[in-house]
Formats: sequence, C-alpha cells, structure tokens
Amino acid sequence: MKRRIGVLISGRGSNFEALADSVAAGRIPNAEIAVVLSNRADAPGVAKAKARGIEARAIPSSGLEREAYDRLIVAALRQKQVELICMAGYMRMVSAYFVSEFRNRILNIHPSLLPAFPGLEAQRQALEHGVKFTGCTVHFVDERLDAGPILLQAIVPVEDSDTPEILAARILREEHRIYTEAVRIVLDGRYRIEGRRVLLDPPQKH
Ligand code: GRF
Repeated sequence: MKRRIGVLISGRGSNFEALADSVAAGRIPNAEIAVVLSNRADAPGVAKAKARGIEARAIPSSGLEREAYDRLIVAALRQKQVELICMAGYMRMVSAYFVSEFRNRILNIHPSLLPAFPGLEAQRQALEHGVKFTGCTVHFVDERLDAGPILLQAIVPVEDSDTPEILAARILREEHRIYTEAVRIVLDGRYRIEGRRVLLDPPQKH
C-alpha cells in the first residue's frame, strides 16, 4: 500500500502543491496525498487540491475549543489512514491530544531558521531584526509553537533591497525543496530523534 500523507493548510497551499508535484514526479516514491484539510473555508489550497483530484475539504474551527477541534481533524486523518501529517501554512497550534495521537508523525514548515523568529510574519521579523541570513525549517510538531525537533533547514541570504514579500518569495523556493526532502526522509525512516536532535542516516546507495 502506498504511504499515505495528510496535509493541513489554512491558505494559499503552495507547499501542498510542491509536495503534490513531488509525489506525482516520483521524488516522494510510493506515496500519495490522501487528504488535504483546511481550518478555513476560504483557503485557496482546497480548490487547488480538488483540481488535482485530491480529496480536500475545510473543517471550520470557529467556535470550537482547541482539543474539540483537533478531535475532528484526528478523526478525519485516521479515517484516511494517514501515516504522516504535513502542516503547510496551517495557522493553528495543535493540542497535546493531537500530538500524542501522532507522536513524531507531524511535520511543519516555518519560514525562518528556528529558533529565531517563531510565530507570525517570520520574514518581517528577520528583516526588522537586521539578520543577514535567514531561511526555513522543517521540524517535528509538538504542543509548543514552532519548537519541536528540527529535521532540515536551508539558509537564504537577506538583501539590502528586500521587502518582506521579496524575502518571503526567496525563502519559499527553499521551503518547497526541503519539504519534499524531509517527507522522503521521514517516510523512509532515515532518521532518529535523540533529545532535541534529529540525526539523519546517510542515504542508501543503490
Ligand atoms: C509558508 O511560508 C510556510 O512556511 C508558513 O506559511 C506559508 C504558507 O504558504 N508556515 P503556502 O500556503 O504553503 O503557500
């Protein structure tokens, strides 16, 4: 059976599209995106997924307590028998319940070199702080914000002429690249977690 991935989004969905392209092109072999879920009804990524023939729907979160909402999401993911969850622009913190249901099976991508600039508008935070390099991070998700063990990072230079939008676009290209690589590593089990450190096994030679 193909390895089944669930993707959680809140908006545009370009990281979802990058993963879907990678699955289709065989860069993430023997896998499928089983479902895309959004907490926002108007997320453009939902329509993009449907246009690709991938099951996608919004489960609106308004009015629900965090764990009550997460129980809906977990049930939807279990129903699709996903073994890995990729948060891709999913603008919610998850409950301890969610994390314990999928321990070390939830990834997130964040547009900074964590632990610098967690939270919203990471690219603007980087510019305002004056760093010369920033980047992006794929990490395992725990119940803290942008804080779980780091799987992969990529470095992106900050140019003097950058606006948050220009910098975000430069970072996004690297996000799309390393998210595919991270998913492949996790599905292949080529890593181990020791404390906060994620140690990668060397790629197998064929
Ligand atoms: C990305 O920059 C991601 O790192 C951040 O939110 C943005 C989502 O973009 N968490 P998209 O929806 O994947 O296009």
